[in-house]
Amino acid sequence: MLDLFAEAEPWQEPLAPGAVILRRFALSRAVALFDGINAVAARSPFRHMVTPGGYTMSVAMTNCGRLGWTTDDRGYLYAPLDPITGNPWPAMPDAFQALCHDAAVVAGYADFTPDACLVNRYAVGAKLSLHQDKDEPDLRAPIVSVSLGLPAVFQFGGLRRNDPLKRLMLEHGDVVVWGGESRLYYHGIQPLKSGFHPQAQAFRYNLTFRQAAYSE
Ligand code: SIN
Ligand code: FE2
Repeated sequence: MLDLFAEAEPWQEPLAPGAVILRRFALSRAVALFDGINAVAARSPFRHMVTPGGYTMSVAMTNCGRLGWTTDDRGYLYAPLDPITGNPWPAMPDAFQALCHDAAVVAGYADFTPDACLVNRYAVGAKLSLHQDKDEPDLRAPIVSVSLGLPAVFQFGGLRRNDPLKRLMLEHGDVVVWGGESRLYYHGIQPLKSGFHPQAQAFRYNLTFRQAAYSE
Protein backbone atom coordinates (compact mmCIF):
# COMPACT_ATOMS: atom_id res chain seq x y z
CA MET A 1 0.00 0.00 0.00
CA LEU A 2 1.17 3.52 -0.68
CA ASP A 3 2.51 5.08 2.51
CA LEU A 4 1.81 8.79 2.25
CA PHE A 5 4.12 9.52 5.17
CA ALA A 6 7.16 7.65 3.92
CA GLU A 7 10.16 9.72 2.91
CA ALA A 8 10.31 10.18 -0.84
CA GLU A 9 13.10 8.31 -2.60
CA PRO A 10 15.88 10.65 -3.71
CA TRP A 11 15.80 11.71 -7.36
CA GLN A 12 18.27 13.38 -9.70
CA GLU A 13 18.02 16.59 -11.70
CA PRO A 14 20.72 17.39 -14.27
CA LEU A 15 22.03 20.93 -13.72
CA ALA A 16 24.86 21.53 -16.22
CA PRO A 17 27.62 19.50 -17.91
CA GLY A 18 29.31 17.66 -15.01
CA ALA A 19 26.74 18.95 -12.50
CA VAL A 20 23.71 17.27 -10.94
CA ILE A 21 21.29 17.88 -8.07
CA LEU A 22 20.65 14.81 -5.92
CA ARG A 23 17.34 15.76 -4.40
CA ARG A 24 16.83 14.63 -0.77
CA PHE A 25 19.95 12.46 -0.98
CA ALA A 26 21.05 13.46 2.56
CA LEU A 27 17.57 13.48 4.10
CA SER A 28 17.73 10.09 5.82
CA ARG A 29 21.12 11.02 7.37
CA ALA A 30 20.23 14.51 8.56
CA VAL A 31 20.32 13.68 12.28
CA ALA A 32 23.88 12.36 12.07
CA LEU A 33 24.90 15.36 9.96
CA PHE A 34 23.50 17.81 12.52
CA ASP A 35 25.33 15.91 15.28
CA GLY A 36 28.49 16.33 13.22
CA ILE A 37 27.91 20.07 12.73
CA ASN A 38 27.43 20.52 16.48
CA ALA A 39 30.57 18.54 17.27
CA VAL A 40 32.63 20.57 14.80
CA ALA A 41 31.23 23.91 16.02
CA ALA A 42 31.94 22.97 19.65
CA ARG A 43 35.66 22.88 18.81
CA SER A 44 35.88 25.44 16.01
CA PRO A 45 33.04 27.90 16.50
CA PHE A 46 31.09 29.59 13.71
CA ARG A 47 32.52 33.02 12.89
CA HIS A 48 31.91 35.81 10.40
CA MET A 49 35.08 36.08 8.34
CA VAL A 50 36.27 39.40 6.91
CA THR A 51 37.25 39.46 3.22
CA PRO A 52 40.46 41.09 1.92
CA GLY A 53 38.25 44.04 0.87
CA GLY A 54 37.13 44.57 4.48
CA TYR A 55 33.62 43.13 4.04
CA THR A 56 32.26 41.07 6.94
CA MET A 57 30.54 38.01 5.45
CA SER A 58 26.89 37.54 6.38
CA VAL A 59 27.31 33.76 6.36
CA ALA A 60 28.84 32.30 9.54
CA MET A 61 31.50 29.69 8.77
CA THR A 62 33.66 26.99 10.26
CA ASN A 63 35.56 24.02 8.79
CA CYS A 64 36.50 20.44 9.39
CA GLY A 65 39.04 18.18 7.75
CA ARG A 66 42.78 18.51 7.28
CA LEU A 67 42.42 21.96 5.69
CA GLY A 68 39.93 24.78 6.21
CA TRP A 69 38.95 27.71 4.00
CA THR A 70 39.68 31.07 5.58
CA THR A 71 39.87 34.67 4.55
CA ASP A 72 41.69 37.60 6.09
CA ASP A 73 43.21 40.89 4.98
CA ARG A 74 45.83 39.07 2.92
CA GLY A 75 43.48 36.92 0.87
CA TYR A 76 41.70 33.59 0.71
CA LEU A 77 43.60 30.50 1.72
CA TYR A 78 43.26 26.93 2.91
CA ALA A 79 45.00 26.49 6.23
CA PRO A 80 45.58 23.51 8.55
CA LEU A 81 44.95 25.55 11.71
CA ASP A 82 41.84 27.38 12.84
CA PRO A 83 43.07 30.98 13.24
CA ILE A 84 40.62 31.54 16.14
CA THR A 85 41.55 28.56 18.31
CA GLY A 86 45.09 28.03 17.02
CA ASN A 87 44.31 24.31 16.83
CA PRO A 88 43.93 22.03 13.82
CA TRP A 89 40.41 22.04 12.40
CA PRO A 90 38.27 19.21 13.82
CA ALA A 91 38.43 15.94 11.89
CA MET A 92 35.69 15.31 9.36
CA PRO A 93 32.93 13.37 11.12
CA ASP A 94 32.43 9.85 9.73
CA ALA A 95 28.87 10.71 8.70
CA PHE A 96 30.19 13.62 6.60
CA GLN A 97 32.76 11.46 4.83
CA ALA A 98 30.31 8.66 4.15
CA LEU A 99 27.66 10.97 2.73
CA CYS A 100 30.16 12.84 0.55
CA HIS A 101 31.59 9.60 -0.78
CA ASP A 102 28.19 8.13 -1.62
CA ALA A 103 26.98 11.34 -3.31
CA ALA A 104 30.18 11.64 -5.35
CA VAL A 105 29.82 8.06 -6.57
CA VAL A 106 26.22 8.60 -7.67
CA ALA A 107 27.25 11.80 -9.45
CA GLY A 108 30.05 10.02 -11.32
CA TYR A 109 33.06 11.16 -9.27
CA ALA A 110 33.99 7.88 -7.58
CA ASP A 111 37.59 8.93 -6.85
CA PHE A 112 36.76 12.07 -4.90
CA THR A 113 38.49 12.23 -1.51
CA PRO A 114 37.86 15.60 0.17
CA ASP A 115 40.41 17.01 2.60
CA ALA A 116 38.35 20.10 3.50
CA CYS A 117 34.73 20.71 4.44
CA LEU A 118 33.49 24.28 4.76
CA VAL A 119 30.44 24.51 7.02
CA ASN A 120 28.20 27.51 6.27
CA ARG A 121 25.40 28.78 8.50
CA TYR A 122 22.85 31.21 7.06
CA ALA A 123 20.55 33.28 9.29
CA VAL A 124 17.71 35.35 7.83
CA GLY A 125 19.10 37.77 5.23
CA ALA A 126 22.47 35.99 4.90
CA LYS A 127 23.66 35.48 1.34
CA LEU A 128 26.64 34.37 -0.69
CA SER A 129 27.32 36.62 -3.68
CA LEU A 130 28.04 35.10 -7.08
CA HIS A 131 31.52 33.55 -7.04
CA GLN A 132 33.67 30.73 -8.38
CA ASP A 133 35.25 28.07 -6.16
CA LYS A 134 38.77 28.59 -7.48
CA ASP A 135 41.05 28.45 -4.43
CA GLU A 136 41.63 24.72 -4.93
CA PRO A 137 44.78 23.85 -6.92
CA ASP A 138 43.45 20.58 -8.37
CA LEU A 139 40.36 21.34 -10.43
CA ARG A 140 39.90 17.71 -11.45
CA ALA A 141 38.13 17.19 -8.11
CA PRO A 142 34.45 18.20 -7.93
CA ILE A 143 32.59 20.17 -5.26
CA VAL A 144 29.97 18.30 -3.19
CA SER A 145 27.48 20.64 -1.51
CA VAL A 146 24.90 19.51 1.06
CA SER A 147 21.92 21.65 2.09
CA LEU A 148 20.23 21.27 5.48
CA GLY A 149 17.51 23.22 7.29
CA LEU A 150 15.69 26.16 5.74
CA PRO A 151 15.39 26.32 1.95
CA ALA A 152 17.33 28.88 -0.10
CA VAL A 153 17.56 29.98 -3.72
CA PHE A 154 20.76 28.75 -5.37
CA GLN A 155 22.02 30.55 -8.44
CA PHE A 156 24.08 28.57 -10.93
CA GLY A 157 25.51 30.27 -14.01
CA GLY A 158 28.45 29.63 -16.30
CA LEU A 159 32.14 30.36 -16.69
CA ARG A 160 31.55 34.10 -17.04
CA ARG A 161 30.01 36.25 -14.35
CA ASN A 162 27.47 37.58 -16.88
CA ASP A 163 26.30 34.17 -18.11
CA PRO A 164 22.58 33.53 -17.58
CA LEU A 165 21.71 32.14 -14.15
CA LYS A 166 19.51 29.22 -13.25
CA ARG A 167 17.70 29.79 -9.97
CA LEU A 168 16.82 26.67 -8.01
CA MET A 169 15.37 26.18 -4.58
CA LEU A 170 17.65 23.95 -2.51
CA GLU A 171 15.81 22.15 0.28
CA HIS A 172 16.68 20.12 3.35
CA GLY A 173 18.65 17.06 2.26
CA ASP A 174 19.48 18.21 -1.27
CA VAL A 175 23.02 17.61 -2.53
CA VAL A 176 24.56 19.44 -5.49
CA VAL A 177 27.69 18.06 -7.15
CA TRP A 178 29.56 20.04 -9.78
CA GLY A 179 32.82 19.21 -11.51
CA GLY A 180 34.39 18.64 -14.92
CA GLU A 181 33.14 21.24 -17.37
CA SER A 182 31.14 23.12 -14.73
CA ARG A 183 33.77 23.02 -11.98
CA LEU A 184 34.42 26.77 -12.26
CA TYR A 185 30.86 27.89 -12.93
CA TYR A 186 29.68 30.94 -11.01
CA HIS A 187 27.20 30.26 -8.22
CA GLY A 188 25.69 31.92 -5.15
CA ILE A 189 22.90 31.91 -2.59
CA GLN A 190 20.19 34.58 -2.46
CA PRO A 191 19.34 36.18 0.91
CA LEU A 192 17.73 33.62 3.24
CA LYS A 193 14.05 34.10 3.90
CA SER A 194 12.87 33.74 7.49
CA GLY A 195 11.24 30.47 8.48
CA PHE A 196 11.31 27.64 10.97
CA HIS A 197 12.77 24.22 10.42
CA PRO A 198 12.22 21.51 13.08
CA GLN A 199 15.89 20.45 13.10
CA ALA A 200 17.67 23.68 12.16
CA GLN A 201 15.29 26.24 13.70
CA ALA A 202 15.89 29.60 12.00
CA PHE A 203 18.96 28.55 9.99
CA ARG A 204 20.11 27.02 6.78
CA TYR A 205 23.33 24.97 6.91
CA ASN A 206 25.49 23.99 4.00
CA LEU A 207 28.46 21.64 3.85
CA THR A 208 30.82 21.96 0.90
CA PHE A 209 33.38 19.25 0.47
CA ARG A 210 36.52 20.12 -1.46
CA GLN A 211 39.89 18.72 -2.30
CA ALA A 212 42.09 21.61 -1.24
CA ALA A 213 45.55 20.06 -1.68
CA TYR A 214 47.03 18.95 -4.98
CA SER A 215 47.18 15.18 -5.32
CA GLU A 216 49.55 13.41 -7.73
C1 SIN B 1 29.28 27.78 -1.44
O1 SIN B 1 29.20 28.23 -2.57
O2 SIN B 1 30.38 27.59 -0.89
C2 SIN B 1 28.04 27.42 -0.65
C3 SIN B 1 26.81 27.29 -1.44
C4 SIN B 1 25.63 27.00 -0.58
O3 SIN B 1 25.53 27.50 0.56
O4 SIN B 1 24.74 26.27 -1.03
FE1 FE2 C 1 31.08 28.25 -3.64
